[in-house]
Amino acid sequence: MNIKLIYGSDTNNTEYVIDTYVMSILEQMGEVDLKTVSEVTEKDWHDADLYILSIPTWYDGELQSDWEMYFETFKEIDFTNKTIAVFGLGDQWGYDEWFCDGVGILAKVIETNNGTVIGKWTKDDSYEFDTNPKVLIDENTFWGLPLDEDNQSDLTQERVTNWLQQVKSDYEIIHGK
Ligand SMILES: Cc1cc2nc3c(=O)[nH]c(=O)nc-3n(C[C@H](O)[C@H](O)[C@H](O)COP(=O)(O)O)c2cc1C
Repeated sequence: MNIKLIYGSDTNNTEYVIDTYVMSILEQMGEVDLKTVSEVTEKDWHDADLYILSIPTWYDGELQSDWEMYFETFKEIDFTNKTIAVFGLGDQWGYDEWFCDGVGILAKVIETNNGTVIGKWTKDDSYEFDTNPKVLIDENTFWGLPLDEDNQSDLTQERVTNWLQQVKSDYEIIHGK
């Protein structure tokens, strides 16, 4: 399987999580092409089986700066026949109202433009916010995986491992092994 992981990171937390936890697991699933969103061209949307997008949320619910610059282009992409999972970083204590909003914002565009979002994730008791940020589809379900390196970095490895297992199984249900 060809996997493309596209990310943006302002203060390198996202990059750290990718390098430390995500890449080694993805490399067991297939060939991985890792790109920052500022490097992405039109062609990148045509040469992978599975896309994983990663975005931290900044400034009260804003997209990370490179994602922000790419967003107008992103909104014009036809995601028909594309299978995409999204994870993001945020701070649920400092910015609970907007915790990982970016994940929900990207995922909604993908579904609006006919793509398939996989890796939707159940909100368990380990999350400690009681507001209604855009990362939530409903009370108990996230659009993707929210991570919190600011307050819960000790949970990141386990969350990433479990979520990528789910992404793999969702992918196999749609496309076969
Ligand atoms: C000024 C500022 C604003 C932020 N705004 C939000 C926010 O609205 N929602 C959120 O979940 N996290 C917010 N955060 C937390 C970042 O998303 C978090 O630190 C993340 O790990 C940064 O990832 P990066 O280093 O890859 O850019 C904010 C952090 C700062 C310093």
